[in-house]
Formats: sequence, C-alpha cells, structure tokens
Amino acid sequence: MSTQAQSNLGEVFASVASNYRGSDIDLHTVYREMREQTPVIEENFMARLGVPSIAGLDPNRPTFTLFKYDDVMAVMRDASRFTNGFIAEGLGSFFDGLILTAMDGEAHKSIRNLLQPVFMPETVNRWKQTKIDPVIRNEYIRPLVPNKGADLMDFALYFPIRVIYALIGFPEDKPEEIEQYAAWALAILAGPQVDPEKAAAARGAAMEAAKALYDVVKVVVAERRAAGAEGDDLISRLIRAEYQGRSLDDHEIATFVRSLLPAASETTTRTFGTLMALLLEHPETLERVRNDRSLVNKAIDEAVRFEPVATFKVRQVAEDMTIRGVAIPKGAMVQCIVTSANRDEEAFENADVFDIDRRAKPSFGFGFGPHMCIGQFVAKTEINCALNAILDLLPNIRLDPNQPAPEIVGAQLRGPHYLHVLWD
Ligand code: HEM
Repeated sequence: MSTQAQSNLGEVFASVASNYRGSDIDLHTVYREMREQTPVIEENFMARLGVPSIAGLDPNRPTFTLFKYDDVMAVMRDASRFTNGFIAEGLGSFFDGLILTAMDGEAHKSIRNLLQPVFMPETVNRWKQTKIDPVIRNEYIRPLVPNKGADLMDFALYFPIRVIYALIGFPEDKPEEIEQYAAWALAILAGPQVDPEKAAAARGAAMEAAKALYDVVKVVVAERRAAGAEGDDLISRLIRAEYQGRSLDDHEIATFVRSLLPAASETTTRTFGTLMALLLEHPETLERVRNDRSLVNKAIDEAVRFEPVATFKVRQVAEDMTIRGVAIPKGAMVQCIVTSANRDEEAFENADVFDIDRRAKPSFGFGFGPHMCIGQFVAKTEINCALNAILDLLPNIRLDPNQPAPEIVGAQLRGPHYLHVLWD
C-alpha cells in the first residue's frame, strides 16, 4: 500500500474521530452522576456532548435519554414498542434497499432469518481458517515483526476492511480497490456532521460514496449469480440464502453488502484498539492471556462491556409510556446510553474495574434483542485472530515508554487514536 494512500486514509479516520469525539469530559463520572441522580431525562444528551445523535435525525425532536442497565435492556429487547423505522427518514437514497438497522417488525424478522445463517459460527469458523486468520497474520502482523515497534492503530485501521473485502469475495488481484472501498466506507460514516457548515458537503460526499459502493458491489453480485453462486464467499452465500421460500434479489444484496463496509470496519478497528489499550495497561492480564488463549474471548467481551465503541442506541417510542416516573409521548426518541448501562453498579459488581474473570452477563456493546449485531461472530473472530497473531509473533509486546500512553476517547465511536508499542 502506498504511503500517500496510507496517510490519506489516516487523515479521513482522524477527521471521522474528531467529528464523533465531542467534549473532552470524563464521561464515566458524568454517567455515574446521571445514573444516581437523573436516570431518565428529557434531553438529547449526545447534543449536549456535541456529537451527531443519529444519521440525519432532527436534533429538535423530543428526545429522552436513559442511563440505567434495566431501562436500556427493556428498550433493546422490545422492538414492537421501541422502533427503528425512523433511521430511514431523511436519508432516503442511502437506505433505498435492504438496510436491516432501519427495518421493523415482520419485515425485519423475515430478512434477519434469511441472513442470519450466513453469519453464524459454523460459517465464520470456516472463514477463520481460510481467510480471516491468514489475511491478518500473514499480510499484516508478519511483515511488522522486524520493525520492533509500531503504532498498532495503523494496522487496526486496515485489517477489518481488508477482511470484509476478502469475505465478500472481491477480486484479490486489485489491492488499490481495497483502499478505495475503505475511503468510501469512512466517507459514509462522516455523513452526519455536527458543524452545519460542513454538513451539506459531508452529506453529498457520503451519498456519492454510498452510490459508488453500490455500483461496484452490484456488478460483482451479477457476475456471481451468472457463474452459479456456488462459492463460500459472502455474496454467493447471500444469493443462495432462503427463508420460507423468500430469497434476495441483486439490488437487495448490493444494498446490504454496501451497508456492511461501514458497519464492519470502523467498529472493529476501534474495538480492537480498545482491547489492546486495556490489555497493555494491565500487563499482568496480558500475560495471563498470552499463556492461556482460552481467555482471549473473555477479554474481548469484557473490553466490549467496559468501553463499547458504539456508545448509545436510539429508538422511537410507538406508544405513550412512563419510565421511572418520566412521561414519554408516542413518537419521541429514546437515547439509550450503552456506555453508562455497561457500567451500572446495580448490574455489574465493581463495574469500573476491567475484569476478564467476570461472570458472563449480557452487555450492550453489540446491542441486544432483535437488532443485535449480526456480524458479532465475524468481528470477535477477527479480533481474536489479531490478538493471537500479535501474541504469537511480537514477543514481549508492551507500551512504548517514550510515546504518549493510549487514551480511550470519544463520546460516540469511542476508542484510542494511537497505540505505540515495542516488542523484542
Ligand atoms: C466490534 C465490531 C462491531 C461492533 C462493536 C458492532 C456493533 C453493533 C451494534 C451495537 C449493533 C446494534 C444496532 C442496534 O441495536 O440498533 C450492530 C448491528 C449490526 N451490525 Fe455490527 N458491530 C460490529 C461489527 C460488525 C460486523 C463485522 C458486521 C458485518 C460483517 C456488522 C454488521 C451489522 C449489521 C448488519 C447490523 C444491523 C443488525 C440489525 O439491525 O438487525 N457489525 N452492530
């Protein structure tokens, strides 16, 4: 990959991060106070923190914010009283087609049942052997070995998009295209801007990027279908998928696959970065994980609880209701603060401690209920492979004492921006 291309992608990543960073306050302290004093408020809390609330949403619509675990759980698991359809509003051309996160009810359920098997561990474990582990280990970690030091975020920025590219089954002989797709995925994420001066241009660029992605994916879908769609790649599997006699047409597959690039890249980048930052800051835990790899998945789950990258989820209420004595009218938005719910002392003992031995309990880093992340096994497998390859190939990996220590920041899309490490 050229240095020029690398620095461009790095710049776009930095600008996305700054858009979603918000005010530099100690979020965990603020959220603890909210849980104790005002666990349900009538306010768009993300607007207070200075970050976009959700794609294109009118910030003046009545919005309520929830901070407690039980309340967030009640919202996430009940998709009939708390709906998602509003996500499609105002962003019509992005969502013209199959965008799971903006679907409700039976329509969502039947499509989800159709797609789900493609993302279950049975398939993902096969991909782990054939694509995910070889790509991460051989293309990214092995070449780093002689350098004896790196900013791991440089690696983190690339591997998720490269893995999704490989899973989708795009041509392997065109590396420059991966770069282009990564840039498009980031442009889509940069679409909703807080700064009104930047909003129109960013929205235009996001629309163009979404269209460009759609066009390239559609061509590949048509080629795969014409060739019989017998392969193990994601597109062939989506062509073959069937539920109750329904299957997907080319347009649906192209829209869905296009939506995966932004859903699967930035989220995985930051979650990997957060996990590594937490382990490097707890060398005794890192050592235990190095010696007992069955702890890798526990460490991932705990990192996703402790510092979730997707810090909040929004739903629209379908009927008048009252939560903790606060009346919420039909049509209002509820903003569920995942970062707060995941640290709720009533749900997790010593919630502010990063503890990989914690008893398994659902947290909301991958969501919960009908819309829970469909790609979570893919994401966890990628991060598992990345950590294992690092522990196998970069001996005595540790924080670089001559560089600033990593900081997990951002009111939305949370994670570290740099991760300077050394190894022997
Ligand atoms: C560590 C990485 C990831 C994180 C933290 C993450 C997080 C999430 C969260 C919180 C949701 C729930 C949204 C909601 O409730 O409204 C979600 C949904 C989704 N994710 Fe992920 N995700 C990750 C990786 C991926 C990957 C790798 C893929 C695809 C291969 C993916 C595809 C999706 C899709 C399609 C949905 C929508 C599901 C639905 O609405 O039914 N994600 N993700």
